[in-house]
Amino acid sequence: MRAVIQDAYGVLEEVLRLGEVEKPTVGDGEVLVHVQAAAVSGSDWHLLRGLPYAARPVVGVRRPRNRVPGLELAGTVEAVGKGVTTIQIGDEVFGWCDGAFCEYVSVSEAHVTVKPANLSPEQAAAVPIAGFTALQAVRDRGRVRAGQKVLVIGASGCVGTYAVQLAKHYGAEVTAVCSAGKAAMVRELGADHVLDYAAGPLTASGFDVVLDIYGNSSLRTIKRLLKPGGTVVLVGGTGGSWLMGTDKWIRGMLAAPFLGIKVRPLVHKDRLDDLVLLRELIEAGKLTPVLDRTYPLTEAATAIEDVRQGRVRGHAVVTP
Ligand SMILES: NC(=O)c1ccc[n+]([C@@H]2O[C@H](COP(=O)([O-])OP(=O)(O)OC[C@H]3O[C@@H](n4cnc5c(N)ncnc54)[C@H](OP(=O)(O)O)[C@@H]3O)[C@@H](O)[C@H]2O)c1
Repeated sequence: MRAVIQDAYGVLEEVLRLGEVEKPTVGDGEVLVHVQAAAVSGSDWHLLRGLPYAARPVVGVRRPRNRVPGLELAGTVEAVGKGVTTIQIGDEVFGWCDGAFCEYVSVSEAHVTVKPANLSPEQAAAVPIAGFTALQAVRDRGRVRAGQKVLVIGASGCVGTYAVQLAKHYGAEVTAVCSAGKAAMVRELGADHVLDYAAGPLTASGFDVVLDIYGNSSLRTIKRLLKPGGTVVLVGGTGGSWLMGTDKWIRGMLAAPFLGIKVRPLVHKDRLDDLVLLRELIEAGKLTPVLDRTYPLTEAATAIEDVRQGRVRGHAVVTP
């Protein structure tokens, strides 16, 4: 079967190629999915380069442990393994996996569920990881409640587009930070106010919760944005190749008592019960994926580069 293959870390054009790999067989407890769409996110770019270096023991020290990139998918179940009870042949599913940029994936039944009835496979593929991250940032780490003022930094990207909608769902007044060109889209998602990050330093204040999704704000800036005792959820990071800003997470937690704020880093968890909740919110019309573009498998590298360069509103997917 056709797959995007990565045998080394490096620059995009040099390390990705389209090739043939063996079609997987379905193991016990697994389902074989004919992939219709696989989402592209900022994480794909990081994994291509093997960054941050601190993650190499997990993702592969010299070369990627998983030769086929792609972490989330939607497609049709073609076979089910022994012991599978929740999924049937022919089901249209969505979920997470290793190696989605190919035609078939064999994945644990605990990693997929029936896709939202009102979404295309392309839209459904864009839900899992960004959806988990936004949900866990808003509900679990930010503990956003009705009437609170929430600032979402990086509101127009994969995670941010869900975070804006979820913060509104939990009853917050939402201020979104993104580029001017994407302001209208973020307003349509429900943001009450939109700030352009290129217009100068963020001078607003009085927020109960800041969701720092882009990750470039200093702790001093975050303290100024928050009410005393407010909460910042650290989601993304910018910075050097070793830690890519996660050192700020440690500094933030150590400094929190002195700054008089709560600092809560997020490492999202892939959870089936959260995927089911996201499906329910989508089917109830309370959450909508923002899908900008689809690319054929042959253009996976272009898709990753377009996401990296901010040329995409919300999500891009490849369609094997
Ligand atoms: N902690 C976790 O578990 C977890 C999970 C998933 C992702 N992440 C991380 O979360 C971050 C965001 O991921 P994503 O997939 O949402 O990325 P993305 O789709 O590339 O979105 C990036 C967002 O940041 C905005 N942005 C760009 N430059 C900015 C600036 N100078 N100031 C403020 N905002 C700026 C972009 O706005 P424009 O597009 O309008 O320019 C866009 O809204 C990444 O660092 C990713 O690795 C963390």
